[in-house]
Amino acid sequence: MLKKNIEEALNKQLNAELYSAYLYLAMAAYCETIPMKGFAKWLRVQSEEEKAHGMKFFDYIIEAGGTVKLARIEAPKTEWKSVGDVFEQVYEHEKKVTGLINGIMDLAVKEKDYATQNFLGWFVKEQVEEEANASEILAQIRMIKDVVGHMFWLDHELGKRG
Ligand code: FEO
Repeated sequence: MLKKNIEEALNKQLNAELYSAYLYLAMAAYCETIPMKGFAKWLRVQSEEEKAHGMKFFDYIIEAGGTVKLARIEAPKTEWKSVGDVFEQVYEHEKKVTGLINGIMDLAVKEKDYATQNFLGWFVKEQVEEEANASEILAQIRMIKDVVGHMFWLDHELGKRG
């Protein structure tokens, strides 16, 4: 049985993951309109991944005997300055999510909730990958941002994400 404060933190993270899905979908919509279809494809796939992250919290809360409480999802913004601006924010957002996961882990350690610590271990590892992916794309954009041909090459590469 989940302690109430753990259940609350897990439900909050479920909402944060669904917000991430929403945010990346909004970014995908922006990239579609520039148009940078490859960036948009990468962000669409990322949005689906975030929904899957949210569902991992959904399933765990139920399996651990807690109650899923779905809350309102904040509306993301709709405009960015460029794909560079988008990926600056993807990277910042992923660092923020890492902080949120670490915060729940701290709580689970404090409460001696070993099952939740074990569940969160997957996310600790995943966040290393999430930050690395965002930071790598951002570094590539920064390197080539003034060379239009190279930017189209990157757009093409990111569009291969399945
Ligand atoms: Fe669910 Fe991108 O972290």
